[in-house]
Amino acid sequence: MLLYDARNYKMRSDAVDTAHVLVIGSGGAGVRAAIEAAGYGETMLVSKTLTGKGGCTTMAEGGYNAVLREADSCEIHFEDTLKGGAYLNDPDLVQILVKEAPERIRDLLEWGAVFDVTDGCEVAQRPFGGQRFPRTCYAGDRTGHEMMATLVDRLHNTDVLIENEVTIISLLHDGPRVSGAIGLDRQGEIRVMLADAAVLATGGGTRIYDISTNSSSGTGDGYAMGYNAGAELIDMEQIQFHPTGAVFPYDARGRLVTEAVRGEGGILKNVDGERFMNRYDPERMELSTRDVVSRAIATEILEGKGTGNGGVYLDVTHLPRSQIENKLPVMLEQFLKFGVDIRDLPMEVAPTAHHIMGGLRITMNAETTLPCLYACGEVSGGVHGANRLGGNALAETQVFGKRAGESAGKVKERKKAADQKGIENVEKHIDRFLQGDVPPSTIIRSLQTAMWEGAGIFRKGPDLEKTLGIIRHLQTLRPKAASAANLAECCILQNMLTTASLVVRSALLRPESRGAHVRRDISQNWDAEHSPYGHTFLSLSGEGIEMRGGT
Ligand code: FUM
Repeated sequence: MLLYDARNYKMRSDAVDTAHVLVIGSGGAGVRAAIEAAGYGETMLVSKTLTGKGGCTTMAEGGYNAVLREADSCEIHFEDTLKGGAYLNDPDLVQILVKEAPERIRDLLEWGAVFDVTDGCEVAQRPFGGQRFPRTCYAGDRTGHEMMATLVDRLHNTDVLIENEVTIISLLHDGPRVSGAIGLDRQGEIRVMLADAAVLATGGGTRIYDISTNSSSGTGDGYAMGYNAGAELIDMEQIQFHPTGAVFPYDARGRLVTEAVRGEGGILKNVDGERFMNRYDPERMELSTRDVVSRAIATEILEGKGTGNGGVYLDVTHLPRSQIENKLPVMLEQFLKFGVDIRDLPMEVAPTAHHIMGGLRITMNAETTLPCLYACGEVSGGVHGANRLGGNALAETQVFGKRAGESAGKVKERKKAADQKGIENVEKHIDRFLQGDVPPSTIIRSLQTAMWEGAGIFRKGPDLEKTLGIIRHLQTLRPKAASAANLAECCILQNMLTTASLVVRSALLRPESRGAHVRRDISQNWDAEHSPYGHTFLSLSGEGIEMRGGT
């Protein structure tokens, strides 16, 4: 067996690839961006996993929001999104989302996506939380999977060069402009990629929490790389805890139990059999917004009304068996594997970290605050405000993925020069991991526990300060790369620490409860609509909170 010897490791940063547009990330937003950019020039898509296989889009179950019926309207979708987002959303971005979501689902249908249809052969739509019209389009409960299969198929019909299993670890600059990125391949070899424009589509990062719906790739790389490169991020305190994650078996903790279960009529009960949503949102009940439902479930559990496994019941046994079998086949199969037939028995569920609403600040054309850097999908901020409506994320990937690809494609070609200083800095930085002494997994465990305990659904200033102290301590430890192939793991760990610190610092910056961010130690006399505060913001050059209608 060949054993790794750090003394023999030699970096090879002379391998340089060039493209007109570099897309970083291979989920729904990244692939959509690459498809669009391909129409403007040479495009390279880099994935730290396998394009179409990793990432969170493919795991998205419930659906895609789009106004498709006359009885619905973009105005109502707009209002629902703003109200659901506790009025922290950027209204211009929301206007674009609601207007273009129907056009982008038509692209998917044209490219062969198979969504469920009504008897009249129209795209079927189901109710989701916080929406006054059933506007969530779906493919059973494997909507993201269907979308990704379609997008990857389409991608393969373009000239986009796909680089799988390359982990981008830093953006490169040419003066103020972003000019490419540097990454590590599977063997730990450095790869330099130069481009006229780059699109960050790296998805979310709730793997920084102990319990999360995210795939193992949800490590916040894009937030960290954007921040380190000088971009501005907004509202990073806004973390969505999806109300319903699995609570057992242990290895499946946090796994998504789709909102479609409640959309199809599933009801929540505490251990006493009480349908408790009546006490939290009697009008919308189980189809209240996610922030409300998560807090309700967490409160029931904290008050001792949870099940023995630490959850509450989510029950569909009153629904026709055929409805469960046809509309929720993935849930049925998943729970059968856990030993629960949901046609006869309730599921047990509890909140799980799901989505980061904040992210890189973008314009309507998906431009970040850095020249030639664009962002789309979960890594960007502003669309969802302080709480995302279920079904708006898949729509966002397509609407802003297309816009980002188009904007990047339109950037003028220029002579590409390698950012030698940037490359050398990265080499030095990585080199330290070869002399590290703490296994990355130990640091990750400590981070996830600290975040879950100190920056979860309910927050207090002293807990947030303590969590920030733990993160800062963890940042001083020296993660050890056991082999060259583990260098990327050490870089990803650092991204997780940076993302966590952005979340906690932002949480300390917002002195109010708003949407998913609840400060238990602060009382306030305003509701979300009348809050005096706007976005929190963080960048290398400063941080703070905006006042509404002011600075
Ligand atoms: O519950 C779900 O199926 C998740 C959907 C979403 O986050 O949009």
